[in-house]
Amino acid sequence: MKAVFYVFSGTGNTHKVCRAIMREWETAGAECRYTEIAKDSGACDPNGFDRVVIGYPVHAFNAPEPVFEFIKKLPVCRGNRPMVYLVKTSGEPLKLNDGSCARVSDLLKKRGYAVSGEYHYVMPYNMIFRHSDGMAARMWRAARLRIPAEAKEMLEGKKSELKKNVFKRAVSFVFRIEHPAMHLIGRGFKVTEACIGCGKCARGCPQKNIVMQGGKPVFGRHCVGCVKCSFGCPADAIKIGLLNGWKVNGAYNFDGEPAADNEVCRYCRRSYLKYFAAAENAGGCDAK
Ligand SMILES: Cc1cc2nc3c(=O)[nH]c(=O)nc-3n(C[C@H](O)[C@H](O)[C@H](O)COP(=O)(O)O)c2cc1C
Repeated sequence: MKAVFYVFSGTGNTHKVCRAIMREWETAGAECRYTEIAKDSGACDPNGFDRVVIGYPVHAFNAPEPVFEFIKKLPVCRGNRPMVYLVKTSGEPLKLNDGSCARVSDLLKKRGYAVSGEYHYVMPYNMIFRHSDGMAARMWRAARLRIPAEAKEMLEGKKSELKKNVFKRAVSFVFRIEHPAMHLIGRGFKVTEACIGCGKCARGCPQKNIVMQGGKPVFGRHCVGCVKCSFGCPADAIKIGLLNGWKVNGAYNFDGEPAADNEVCRYCRRSYLKYFAAAENAGGCDAK
């Protein structure tokens, strides 16, 4: 069994989930390859693989723009069709996020690939507001409880319907305005005097949109709003323009004590509790 993962991830949540799935598959004997979707991803060809995973974070009820562009450039499907699975992460468990698969599956269809199923994992917000580390740990525990069985399902070739419908598709379509808007908003990213000129933002930008000039980062016009730069800035020196009030800086601690029910954030509290309960009831509560 040969599998390939194509994954876009701004701040690491989607990589964390997809790599955990890949470890399960490798343990089961699959030969896996992992490619980050980025400006310099190089040529990628899913032909010859049995399983393909496309991983992405939900951005404004959509997949991020580089995922669309990546799929548009994939070589058309020849010969045996691989089974394609979408693995997405999002900050909230709202059903509206389901619509993000609509355009992705349409684009894959144009290249001759059919999506066999989608898996959605809630991971902490990297934008809007900061979850507590306890919430991050509980989300990660829920993911680890689900991943062994769901990775097995994918490896065995389970097929399931995508959770898109006309309403979710319409919402996703409207919010796709985020893609051109981010190019403009990204032009307004700036550093404060706290910038130490380390260049981490420029080296890490998946769009190669940041260049160092005179020891300071300068932001170009190809930003896709993944916020890898501001989230990972060791001096918290990057202002993200119009979105600065929603900025989240600094990695989460996923390995601490998971939040108890009464510590779950008030925002969408019932949805999070439902999501956690579904994972914990399905997988038992003994994720290592
Ligand atoms: C520009 C932007 C838009 C986002 N939009 C949504 C959204 O519509 N729904 C949601 O639940 N989370 C949203 N998020 C949160 C991310 O989907 C979530 O934190 C994800 O796990 C980040 O994954 P990554 O670390 O792989 O980039 C958004 C984040 C960013 C940066």
